[in-house]
Amino acid sequence: MALSFDVVVIGAGPAGYVGAIRAAQLGFATACVDDWKNEKGEYLLGGTCLNVGCIPSKALLESSENYERVAHKFAAHGIAVTGAKMDVRKMQARKDKIVSQLTGGIATLFRKNKVTWLKGRGRLIAGAASERYRIDISGGAGAETVAATNVVIATGSTPRELPGVPVDNDLICDNAGALAFGEVPKRLGVIGAGVIGLELGSVWRRLGAKVTILEALPTFLAACDDAVSREAWKVFTKEQGLDIRLGVKIGKVSTGKRIVKVEFADGEGQKAVEFDKLVVSVGRVPNSVNFGAAALGLKIDDRGFIEVDAHCRTNLPKVYAVGDVVRGPMLAHKGMDEGVMVAEHIASQAGHVDLDVIPWVIYTAPEIAWVGKTEQQLRADGTAYRMGQVPFLANG
Ligand code: NAI
Repeated sequence: MALSFDVVVIGAGPAGYVGAIRAAQLGFATACVDDWKNEKGEYLLGGTCLNVGCIPSKALLESSENYERVAHKFAAHGIAVTGAKMDVRKMQARKDKIVSQLTGGIATLFRKNKVTWLKGRGRLIAGAASERYRIDISGGAGAETVAATNVVIATGSTPRELPGVPVDNDLICDNAGALAFGEVPKRLGVIGAGVIGLELGSVWRRLGAKVTILEALPTFLAACDDAVSREAWKVFTKEQGLDIRLGVKIGKVSTGKRIVKVEFADGEGQKAVEFDKLVVSVGRVPNSVNFGAAALGLKIDDRGFIEVDAHCRTNLPKVYAVGDVVRGPMLAHKGMDEGVMVAEHIASQAGHVDLDVIPWVIYTAPEIAWVGKTEQQLRADGTAYRMGQVPFLANG
């Protein structure tokens, strides 16, 4: 007989693992399926955020900021440091250790909370009369099938690819490759001046790379309040030396022996620039297919997101979807909140997530954070508002 669970969560990123733990704490027999593996073939929990996203990027941001302080900023404080050097391999080893401690920490949390960790790729199928759903798990310690009354889909997202710009994570990298450089590239190109482009562009600039960021939109950080984006533009370009080009149309991208050539057009005409590494960070796409749910009639919108209501219920009975695979910002803390909300709903409690008050943070220096609507959104909506500004300079 197949193992049977009250709740099976597909995906162990922040939305999935937090939802699974909450469901188990509420007394449900809970399992979480995930097929994330490292290069040694070991299964890992934590998904993109822990393995190749939030956590490793913050580790590198911290290391690179420390280096920049020592190399360039301590002098103003009267601290003289000569011969400061960056050992990139050591920095990467520290990052890898943080990642493995945290992914291991989730395994401990699963054990403590009695969440069953199912290793392998989950595939949702209709269940027999006595149960609602079955999930086939392949790739782990052999094939296995479990039964589930409630299913929570937390399959996350993957980097959006640009046609004609194939990611090999050697010369042309996505977030995973850009977090793992073994040395500082002399010339780093980044396509997309979004959150990843700015954070990882900052890391490698601080360590000595000449960073050029190519952004399609004519405006900088459009999601942010205009006054903040204007200030950020000045700091990032003039003070810190990020070379950010706006209104760019990417043309042919070709690789040679250890170089990437990017042809593009901007307001000034046609250009071609050579880089030692290129990072493509042009957004992410939801992982809403390839786990069987589509065959059961799961509704997916035209942008690929699983359709859900305010409580993350899909059109299939007792199937929920949370995190990057549904509408709303692709942020770990938003997914975590949705995971908790769904577990509480399954327990007939009243969990709630208000998408209008999810905080955003971009971990550049200075950090940029906001919550709620921006001034330009209020203006566009015709909402009356009062505006206030306090310069940091006035803060003692
Ligand atoms: P993003 O949506 O933040 O930025 C992508 C940028 O690429 C946009 O500015 C877009 O206009 C530009 N772009 C798109 N197509 C282009 C093209 N053909 N040529 C040039 N530019 C183009 O996406 P990003 O940076 O890839 O991050 C993915 C997700 O990860 C985001 O949704 C974000 O929420 C999440 N994330 C959050 C972080 C945080 O909370 N601090 C850190 C890193 C990622």
